[in-house]
Amino acid sequence: MNKGENQSSDLELIADKVFVRQYLDKIPENLPLSEQENADYESKIIALLAEKNAALVAHYYTDPLLQALADKTLGCVADSLEMARFGSNSPASTLMVCGVKFMGETAKILSPDKTILMPTLEATCSLDIGCPIETFSAFCDQHPKHKVVVYANTSAEVKARADWVVTSAIAVDVVEHLLDQGEKIIWAPDKHLGRYIQNKLGAEDDDILLWDGACIVHEEFKLKALEDMKHLYPEAAILAHPESPLAILDVADAVGSTSQIINAAVNRPEKKFIVATDAGIFYKLQLAAPEKEFIMAPTSGDGATCRSCSHCPWMGMNTLQNLYESLLHGTNEIHVEVELGKQAMVPLQRMLDFKKNN
Ligand code: 13P
Ligand code: SF4
Repeated sequence: MNKGENQSSDLELIADKVFVRQYLDKIPENLPLSEQENADYESKIIALLAEKNAALVAHYYTDPLLQALADKTLGCVADSLEMARFGSNSPASTLMVCGVKFMGETAKILSPDKTILMPTLEATCSLDIGCPIETFSAFCDQHPKHKVVVYANTSAEVKARADWVVTSAIAVDVVEHLLDQGEKIIWAPDKHLGRYIQNKLGAEDDDILLWDGACIVHEEFKLKALEDMKHLYPEAAILAHPESPLAILDVADAVGSTSQIINAAVNRPEKKFIVATDAGIFYKLQLAAPEKEFIMAPTSGDGATCRSCSHCPWMGMNTLQNLYESLLHGTNEIHVEVELGKQAMVPLQRMLDFKKNN
């Protein structure tokens, strides 16, 4: 039984694209700055980072200007697993997390003594929105024998309710480890990644109960358009993030987290790649493999929430301007209630320790 089909009408409403659109409608349009303005912000941010003993931690989907600045200041540009690792190991007393809210919360949970700032607190994620703690907890209560495995793209409350937190980089390995131990699993919130894990491990539907969440960016990749593009570039390999629909993953040559996609592009013999993930990754792909060509996988372009196809609108809310304001004034600080943080730390620490123990 897959849970997706078994949720209350409340949750169906929450998972509905109209609900997500309410968040999207709040996103302001970013006006591009001149080169001189960008350079001024960069130098002011560099000075503030040193003054405040702060490090920049940026996701691959953020504006290349932010990624370049994080690299230049010896911060970190990474997938969500490495962002969490970097944050918990960093000697900085302040982390400026450029990404979406769950990434800032993860940093705070793992480093409660550090100050965690974000350029904006409005940047959320459709997976997080679609997995509210009350309905999720009730669902878990209905299956008390199942291990609860949640994706990092969730609130601190949902993490605190889980046995394991995972990112796309280690989701398959962790679930395989649990199935090998004879466990049955609740997987939330991304149904596409959940189905991918089920298929990859040959698990029965009954072994892994799926929550009905999806990423509004990856959900827009469509098979027919991708096949048409593959006809145009038959020599290209397809690289896909596992939040994409299963039909896309089935035809992909490599499936993995954002870091794993970049590694595949570097290490695979092909010279051309069709890439099914957020466009922000092209900056690092081109730096990592300058001699190779990268083509964006086609999106349907007419989905109800496709305000910015192949670019996460929430990641796009991070700018040099709001980063500077936050660092200067100490605004947009992430707070996680102490007891909640301690509970959420347990499954998160399991995630960080997983590779060491297995
Ligand atoms: P990664 O862990 O692969 O960076 O994915 C995070 C994310 O939000 C992808 O949409
Ligand atoms: Fe969430 Fe998708 Fe944006 Fe990643 S790309 S933060 S999964 S909405």
